[in-house]
Amino acid sequence: AAVAFELDADFDVEYHDALPSTNDRARELAADGASDVAVIADRQTGGRGRRGREWSSPSGGVWMSLVLRPDVPPARVPLLTLAAAVAVTDAAREAGVDAAIKWPNDVIVPDAGDDSGRGGAKLCGVLTEMEGEASRVSWVVVGIGANVDVDPDELAGDATSVRAEVGDVPRRAFVQRVLERFDELRSDPAGIVDAWRERAATLGERVRVETTDGDIEGDAVDVTEYGALVVDTEDGERVVHAGDCQHLRTT
Ligand code: BTN
Repeated sequence: AAVAFELDADFDVEYHDALPSTNDRARELAADGASDVAVIADRQTGGRGRRGREWSSPSGGVWMSLVLRPDVPPARVPLLTLAAAVAVTDAAREAGVDAAIKWPNDVIVPDAGDDSGRGGAKLCGVLTEMEGEASRVSWVVVGIGANVDVDPDELAGDATSVRAEVGDVPRRAFVQRVLERFDELRSDPAGIVDAWRERAATLGERVRVETTDGDIEGDAVDVTEYGALVVDTEDGERVVHAGDCQHLRTT
């Protein structure tokens, strides 16, 4: 059953003990015309990651999807994904976790993980979905999967959690901070890329990006005003859009 309550941010919260996927529930609400709702579940039975991957969602995580109706063209939607990554990074840092952002939208702990040198363990991923016209979106769902009060052994891949890094953290306070920061960032979209840049683990690194069009290798030098990654390659600068990135590794 859903429980609705209000937080001190401009979102109404719809809380569930379990859902297949908060993104799916958020999409339903969005299609019904809702806006500024945060759908949260304690666990998901069919959590979805980027590129059709599964997302492990045991009890104790922050599995949350934001229903938004921004008055913007689709090209600006990646900024909302970056804003979510910034908001989670800040909430994690305030909880004492040494978090940083891996382009395009992963929050990682650079010094955690399996010592392979592949650049840290994952703390959070973001899955953004939208519907609308070329000139203007109708709705956007920003799905945030933050490993908060969970055991990394229950998660797939090279993952960590707030609990594993610093011990217990009150989940409700964490959610509140993420929503407050997200609110601040979306009200000042011009500041999002700068905030992202300041927290980026990717910039200045040598990277290989697997794209739908082949691999791009070089130095990650910047992000554009819409959040695309600029890679300095042997053949000059290439701009990679988040939607075209299948995988990024630092080399
Ligand atoms: C990724 O692949 O890195 C993105 C993971 C996104 C997971 C979150 S959890 C809340 C929301 N509901 C889902 O089914 N997925 C997103």
